Amino acid sequence: MPEHKNKNFDRPGGYSTPLGSIASQRHNENYEDVTLLGDQARPHLPERKHISPTHSLSHPETSLYIGDCREVLANLPEKGAVDLIFADPPFNWDVPYENWSDDMPRSVFERFTFDWLDLCIDSLSPTGAIWVNIPDDTAAEVVLHLKRRGLIMVNWCVWHFRFGQYREGSFIMSKVHALYFVKDPVNRTWNSDAILELSDRATIYNDKRTQEKGKNKGMRVPMDVWYGKYWGRVQGNSRERRHGHHNQIPEVYLERVILACSNEGDLVLDPFAGSGTTSTVARAHGRRSISIECSEVNAASAWERISTIGMIRKNCSFGQSSAIHKKRTT
Ligand SMILES: C[S@@+](CC[C@H](N)C(=O)[O-])C[C@H]1O[C@@H](n2cnc3c(N)ncnc32)[C@H](O)[C@@H]1O
Repeated sequence: MPEHKNKNFDRPGGYSTPLGSIASQRHNENYEDVTLLGDQARPHLPERKHISPTHSLSHPETSLYIGDCREVLANLPEKGAVDLIFADPPFNWDVPYENWSDDMPRSVFERFTFDWLDLCIDSLSPTGAIWVNIPDDTAAEVVLHLKRRGLIMVNWCVWHFRFGQYREGSFIMSKVHALYFVKDPVNRTWNSDAILELSDRATIYNDKRTQEKGKNKGMRVPMDVWYGKYWGRVQGNSRERRHGHHNQIPEVYLERVILACSNEGDLVLDPFAGSGTTSTVARAHGRRSISIECSEVNAASAWERISTIGMIRKNCSFGQSSAIHKKRTT
């Protein structure tokens, strides 16, 4: 018997996770029993206190707290009301951050990761989403921890860059994982129309069906591997580059996440602000935002960018083609 296509999607219009995948995650209560190395280390107990941001702006409300994100998240007045979290944490790769040791014993690092993830989950609204930017060596633990806390994975995206660090002893690293989890996969914000790109069917394969569609002719929701003109690691000669920051994320990456998973006026939070990419992009698109950063030097630089420089590549994350071949003629 021929195989039949599974058209049983959980959202009308398709292009979402098939019902089977979400249902199987939702109905597996046993994730709670999964044990990870970080469970051996003691959880951090934040001090309960009144906090206020070091910097703030209005229209839309934008604030920046300086401190350890675990302390700030635990005391946030907006607890339970955040619509979207984007987190690009320290990777424990011995980066010389100010006020932060990036060289912890593995179990302590995992415990730190679980602690801030738990506090982020508490901060999210019931319809909220969290995105985590995380490399190969910790992606599995983040996925399992979020699953054992009852969140559902909608996408496991990959940010692919072609300016990797030269090495000869192994393949050159050219990706970071972008993990998209929600509390409620049915009631979540998902604006597919805001992030469409030209489809390969239209630009390469001359497939008539894409031009016959009722709306969004020749367009598609981007695939889950992200790359392109402005998607490389932000390097020294990039117009976006903020001096002295490690691992600055390109604006187009945040623009795609923010446009897809939040609406104008929504509240976006970044617990590891770095150069301030999240709030800069959120502000450019009319979202309220909260950033947290433990380094005073980074926080000052981030605030300069958020408050006076602003977004440089607004609207560059959609409407383009990400095709990797020229138009097919035969
Ligand atoms: C990978 S960088 C974030 C880069 C950011 N996404 C950007 O585009 O510029 C991580 C940042 O987290 C900060 N950080 C490290 N530990 C922290 C903590 N416990 N609480 C708050 N910030 C922390 C570091 O100082 C660094 O600026």
